[in-house]
Amino acid sequence: MNVAGLQPGNNFEKMGNNLKMTGWRCPVCGDGLVPEYENKCFVCRGNAGSAKHHSFDIARQGYVNLLLPNQKGSTDPGDSKMMVKARTDFLDAGYYQPFSDAINRICKEMLDGKSGIIADAGCGEGYYTKRLASSLPDCEIRGFDLARDAVSHGASSARLSQINNVRFGVASLFDMPLSDGAAEGVICLFAPVAEGEFARIVKKNGFLVIGVPGEDHLFGLKSAIYSEPYRNALRRDELSLFEPVSVERVSYGITLRTNEDIKNLFRMTPYYWKTSEADMAKLDMLDTLETEVCFDLLAYRRK
Ligand SMILES: C[S@@+](CC[C@H](N)C(=O)[O-])C[C@H]1O[C@@H](n2cnc3c(N)ncnc32)[C@H](O)[C@@H]1O
Ligand SMILES: [Zn+2]
Repeated sequence: MNVAGLQPGNNFEKMGNNLKMTGWRCPVCGDGLVPEYENKCFVCRGNAGSAKHHSFDIARQGYVNLLLPNQKGSTDPGDSKMMVKARTDFLDAGYYQPFSDAINRICKEMLDGKSGIIADAGCGEGYYTKRLASSLPDCEIRGFDLARDAVSHGASSARLSQINNVRFGVASLFDMPLSDGAAEGVICLFAPVAEGEFARIVKKNGFLVIGVPGEDHLFGLKSAIYSEPYRNALRRDELSLFEPVSVERVSYGITLRTNEDIKNLFRMTPYYWKTSEADMAKLDMLDTLETEVCFDLLAYRRK
């Protein structure tokens, strides 16, 4: 059976399929982990001569679960299938494509002609992960998230789209299954920033791109719900292990074309969890909605 989406594509073979080059790290013992696509698993070889062999199955959808039971912690309420579907439907409608294009361009600039592994920490259902993979065919993009339904969706849709240079794994971004210095870069979009872990997996002079909402992000949506909408605080993360390189704002207006699009956008925001039923019901009346979208992309280089 083919396990596409996790198949060795051209680029994977170019990078080599040996222990040293895979860059995968066993979450149990920390040794190198080797994908065995024909056996539908990832296997830890252990150190030479050691008897350790930890094995992790590649799921039918093409992702690998590298999360240990003790790493699970509390489950994110954003994990549900309904949330994944809302995010997927909204993102696939293309409203955030200019933001995704900006991420791709900045990663390309930060790579400066190099190729290699780029981790997407907290990749969700993989919209940005897959688009980055398509724009950087000489790189392998590895998306990690705690949300299994999201990762599963990412893997199966990558397979459908025949994007071979992307891998998806269930893993915590605070403990990624990548060896030290394995990655050229990390992107972290609207997800927790694990500076120490990012610094561990990225090469010296490698890069980090953090995506955060800007002050006016979704102000039109908030105005439709709240009588006193507020603007977001400006975010500029000061990091000690990474040098700031650039800040780029991507902002533009969008017109949501259907009530379903409006509700999908609302469901993927944190407001979904803290809005009263009465305020939420205001969205039922709307067939279109204009709102600003405003993202900041903060780029850094590993010291
Ligand atoms: C707001 S979503 C953003 C998803 C994706 N980056 C995007 O922009 O479409 C935040 C994601 O971070 C993930 N997340 C939160 N804490 C995490 C952790 N400790 N390890 C891995 N993923 C985590 C959540 O499951 C969720 O998918
Ligand atoms: Zn192991």
